[in-house]
Amino acid sequence: MRIYRENDYEAMSRRAASILAAEVVRRPDCVLGLATGSSPEGTYRYLADWNKQGLLSFREVKTVNLDEYKGLAPDHDQSYRFFMQDRFFSRVDILPENTRVPDGLAEDSAAECAAYDAYIQSLGGVDLQLLGIGRNGHIGFNEPGDCFVKGTHVVDLAPSTIEANARFFASPGDVPQQAFTMGIGNILAARKILLVASGADKAEALYRAACGPISPQCPGSILQLHPDVALVGDEAALSKLTAAGVPVCG
Ligand code: GLP
Repeated sequence: MRIYRENDYEAMSRRAASILAAEVVRRPDCVLGLATGSSPEGTYRYLADWNKQGLLSFREVKTVNLDEYKGLAPDHDQSYRFFMQDRFFSRVDILPENTRVPDGLAEDSAAECAAYDAYIQSLGGVDLQLLGIGRNGHIGFNEPGDCFVKGTHVVDLAPSTIEANARFFASPGDVPQQAFTMGIGNILAARKILLVASGADKAEALYRAACGPISPQCPGSILQLHPDVALVGDEAALSKLTAAGVPVCG
């Protein structure tokens, strides 16, 4: 795992965007795995700016998102499809038909999960997967548990995740209890992984992900087995890793 330490959220976002942009320049028709949450928002802002300036094009890029709340319509303002449209897809020259997010309203969950995996397969897999990390170590919506789940599946959200995400909803009772998520196998199959994190409340999760035992109790720890992971964090998020003497770039 290459660890890039940046001063703050802005610098973290710029660095992450430059890693992503390099992939798009190198391979204009690449497949990007995308994430939602506050961590990658700044990254999307930089990419949209560079697209607007004509430095980068997403015209041939295809995207698959990690996850979606079960039960939320694409136009619900807390759905991940809405987030992606609002923060990224509507701001760049990507073709709408080249973007895919699990369908939160799918009536047959098993069929939706199977179709999602088949779609990723049909694209030839993901070239670069962008990830955030939850405070409990979750990646996508793969919550801590007794085993790693391979493919796209439906999860019961952990109480701590519901609590962490409640700030975006009118009341905690409005937060969906379940979500569709790519599995750990989908994530590990990506050729490159780019993990972004900022803030002191991610320090423990990052430390466990990068240095702790590889265990489904900290889903992010599986990233230690991937051959090409870049972790871009700000100083606060990386504080536990740097205190432990883990080498970082920058
Ligand atoms: C959410 C998402 C994850 C995200 C994580 C952290 O629950 N499902 O994909 O990485 O929480 O979010 P944030 O970046 O807002 O802290």
